[in-house]
Amino acid sequence: MKDIKVFVSSILPVIGIDMLRKENFNVVTWNDKTPIPQDILIKNAKECDALICTLTAKIDAAFLNECSHLEIISQFGVGYDNIDINEATKLGIPVGNTPGVLTDATADVAFGLMIAASRKMFFMHKKIEKDEWKHFTPTSNLGIELKNKTLGIFGLGRIGNEMAKRCKGAYNMNIIYHNRNKNTEAEQLLDAKYVSFDDLLAQSDVLSVHSVSSNETKGIFNKAVFNKMKPTAIFINTSRGALHNEEDLIEALTAGRIWGAGLDVTNPEPMHKNNPLLNMENVAVLPHIGSATVEARNGMSRLAAENIIEFYKNNRVPNLVNPQKAT
Ligand code: DGY
Repeated sequence: MKDIKVFVSSILPVIGIDMLRKENFNVVTWNDKTPIPQDILIKNAKECDALICTLTAKIDAAFLNECSHLEIISQFGVGYDNIDINEATKLGIPVGNTPGVLTDATADVAFGLMIAASRKMFFMHKKIEKDEWKHFTPTSNLGIELKNKTLGIFGLGRIGNEMAKRCKGAYNMNIIYHNRNKNTEAEQLLDAKYVSFDDLLAQSDVLSVHSVSSNETKGIFNKAVFNKMKPTAIFINTSRGALHNEEDLIEALTAGRIWGAGLDVTNPEPMHKNNPLLNMENVAVLPHIGSATVEARNGMSRLAAENIIEFYKNNRVPNLVNPQKAT
């Protein structure tokens, strides 16, 4: 095998780097915890044959055309909305990702946010810090219970399925979903029912977003959509902040059009510290930590490396997202 140089645009768990080095790849990594500046990314990518990147790297059409020599791009993550897949496909660059290994970790965060929002946990925690825990008040701080409620899943894939399983097991929730395609396995295992988007909005007590960010889904959760939800509904997003309009979400919560929200992803990221969502009673926000477990991140590092190793050794990318690539 020729001497192959791989550039890694973030500090990753060593497991994947070790795998590459063991196979004699020449690995160069960005060694700073802050995102790599675009000009340095381009400069390094130009000197390499393959790239491993994360959601903070902007792999847009301009980057791809400057670095069209890249033989493969491997995304450390299941989402790849930072990559212009159409352009990579046009240029014949295969793109791989790391699905599966972060499913449980992300579903846990969605499930946790649902409970945290329903019981005002983050807000109540801040009250103690502000010395506002004074006495027991029978009619204050009241949350809502989840038992036997309806969970609506927007995008019932791997992670949505795990969220639904948790909600069914813990609270016997009734599962409805809206997808591009029906998920017959979930229909059998979880008694999940496919509904139209409007019915999903009208019937969900908790609406959890697990869809990819695409031209069709960007900004889909906007004012008109929040207006169609129950005033008692909780909106959960652990997918991508781009799917919701944050101003509209703030307005919907302030006006009581929906009851609460749990967000692991925001629009934009990072969220500004003065964002009103951070001081709302029925809202819980986390800084995009869905896949942040030792197990998930090690798995992602391993799969990101495997995409590169298999491509060069066996001419296949195990988790290829653009099989229709031109060449
Ligand atoms: C993903 O894998 O898409 C997560 O959001 C972390 O990158």
